[in-house]
Amino acid sequence: MRRLDARAIELELSRLGASLGSPLAVAAETASTNDDARSAAAAGAPHGAAFLADAQTQGRGRGGRSWHSPPGENLYLSVVLRPSLPASSVAPIALVMGLAVASVVERRLASSARLRAPGGGPLAEVRLKWPNDVLVGGRKLAGILVEAQLRGDSVSSVIVGVGLNVHTSRFPPELSARATSLAMLGIDDVPREVLAAELLQALGDAAARFEAGRLAPFAEDLARMDWLRDRRVEVAGVAGVAAGIDAEGHLLVRGGDGVLRAVAAGEVSVTSG
Ligand code: BTN
Repeated sequence: MRRLDARAIELELSRLGASLGSPLAVAAETASTNDDARSAAAAGAPHGAAFLADAQTQGRGRGGRSWHSPPGENLYLSVVLRPSLPASSVAPIALVMGLAVASVVERRLASSARLRAPGGGPLAEVRLKWPNDVLVGGRKLAGILVEAQLRGDSVSSVIVGVGLNVHTSRFPPELSARATSLAMLGIDDVPREVLAAELLQALGDAAARFEAGRLAPFAEDLARMDWLRDRRVEVAGVAGVAAGIDAEGHLLVRGGDGVLRAVAAGEVSVTSG
């Protein structure tokens, strides 16, 4: 197993001019990089402090699930953000972080000549499953866990944790029908260090754009990447057909009664399509 090389990530970060990734901590193994980032934030870590590990023993996903985190294969990365935002505006940052990760994957797929369809476009489509699962060809390639710490009406810090499946070629049986990796998609020549730096750059750019303009600058990409659109879903007790994402980042669901309902949070089950 080749260990993650902190120096190579730093070199790539400075080449890209990334706004996140300083300071940078790379562990051989940790319980959860989100926990590392959260403790560091509580102790005063600045905007941009990033935590990576080659393996996680208690990698966490949304909804209390665990995140498959075997050693040396994938990226487990968490970063501390300190946006100047009122607490009431921070929630949609989770969507924007998903878009940032999706954009890195989309660029990588597009630049891999071997993956071109005869017409010239990429073979596999990158999509965002609300709120922030990154899917390629309908399978989950990356998951994002956003945890905000609030102080009264303001945001003290936001921890953004990204799990990106890079080299895994075989998932445990419970994941094998739903998960994918860059290697399984035919991209096995990009070092994890380069991907880590690209993720940090994209997350930093997206966080700055969100702080300046909230969701408005992302509206087009959100609509283009929306994997749930027109699928039958159930979420937070609401059943119907997914009908897009509104300006607040809520999932719109049209019920059988024709009424459009906006869902702020919840795990979506796709019931058909
Ligand atoms: C999900 O899709 O449920 C979110 C998965 C988030 C996984 C990442 S891996 C790095 C960071 N550390 C964690 O414990 N979780 C996130």
